[in-house]
Amino acid sequence: MKIETLRWFNNRLEMIDQRILPAAFEYLSYDSAASVAEGIRSMVVRGAPAIGVAAAYGVALDALRLSFVLRQAQDERIEFDKDMETGFTVLAASRPTAVNLFWALQRMRKVWEGVAAQTPQQIAQRLLAEAHEMLAEDIRINKAMGANGAALLKDGARVLTHCNAGALATAGWGTALGVFRSAVEAGKKISVIADETRPFLQGARLTAWEMVQENIPVTLITDNMAGYMMAHGEVDAVVVGTDRVAANGDVANKIGTYMVAVLARRHNIPFYVACPLSTIDLSVASGKDIPIEERSVDEVKGFRDFHWAAEGVKIRNPAFDVTPAELVTGLITEKGVVLGPDVHNIKKLMSS
Ligand code: MRU
Repeated sequence: MKIETLRWFNNRLEMIDQRILPAAFEYLSYDSAASVAEGIRSMVVRGAPAIGVAAAYGVALDALRLSFVLRQAQDERIEFDKDMETGFTVLAASRPTAVNLFWALQRMRKVWEGVAAQTPQQIAQRLLAEAHEMLAEDIRINKAMGANGAALLKDGARVLTHCNAGALATAGWGTALGVFRSAVEAGKKISVIADETRPFLQGARLTAWEMVQENIPVTLITDNMAGYMMAHGEVDAVVVGTDRVAANGDVANKIGTYMVAVLARRHNIPFYVACPLSTIDLSVASGKDIPIEERSVDEVKGFRDFHWAAEGVKIRNPAFDVTPAELVTGLITEKGVVLGPDVHNIKKLMSS
C-alpha cells in the first residue's frame, strides 16, 4: 500500500488524519493557510518533512484563495501582499521545533519574491507548482537517504526506532523507516523494534501500522523496555529521524530519543540519525539553542479522554529532547553518511 500522507485533490490539500490511526483511515481537506496551520498544530499531520510540505501547500492555498477573492478589488495588490504575510505568520506559529517548517516557508517566500511583479493569479500558480515540487522532491530525497542508510545495515539486522519517521512523517517513503524500506528492497532481511513513544504513541500507532502494512517484521515495546532489549543482545542498530540538527551535530528528536542514544552507547550499538539536509539548521550553534515544544499536560495524564494520572498532580510534557552529537554514530543524509558529525564535517556537507 502506497501511503500518501498529503495529496492535492480538487484544488484542496488533503492530509491523512494521523490522530485517529490506526483505528480509522481518513483524509481531511484544507483550503487555507490558517486551516493547514491548525492541522499542523493539532497533529493531523506531524513529522518534520511532512510539516514542511504541508506548510508549503498552506502558502499556495492562501495565494489561490486570495487571488480569487481579490480579483475584483481595486487595491488587489496591497491586500494580497498583506493577507499572504498573515498566512506566513500563522503557519510559522503552528509548531516550534521542526526546522523543516521554517525552511519550507523560507523557500516559498523566495519563490514569491521571484515572481512578485506578476499577477496574484500567476503568483498562486507558481507557488502551487513549488509545493508540488517539494512533495515530489521529499520522496526522491528519502529514497536516496534510504539507499545510503540501507548499506549500513547487515542482513538480518534487528533495528530499533523511536517515534515515527516513516511515510506518515514525510511526503512518502520516510527517513528512518525509509532506510528500512530500502534495506528490504535491496533484499536484506531486517526486523524492526518500535518504541511505543509515550505520550502521543507515534511508535505504537503509526510506525507499527506502517511496518505491518509493508509486511516488514516489527515488534512493539514500551519505551522503558529498550534497555532490556539492548542488554539481552536483541538490538543491532538504532535508526531514528530528527526535527532539527544544530551546526555542531546535536540532534533534536522526539522525547525519549536521548535516552535511547545513551543506552545504545552503553551497549556499543550504532546510533544513526536519518536526516535530510532540510533538517540541518546552521543558524543554531548547538542543541541548547533549539526551541523545544511543550505540549498539553492532558497528553501525559492519559490517552484521549481516558485519564489515569492522579488529579492535581503537576505534569510536564516536553515533546522533544536533544541528543548530543557525541552519541551519534552517523547522520544518514541524501548526500551520504556523515560519521561522527561535528561542526566541521556538517559545514563541509552543507557546502558540497
Ligand atoms: O511530534 P511529532 O510526531 O511531529 O514528532 C516527530 C518526530 O520526532 C520525528 O522523529 C521527526 O519529525 C522526524 S520525521 C522524518
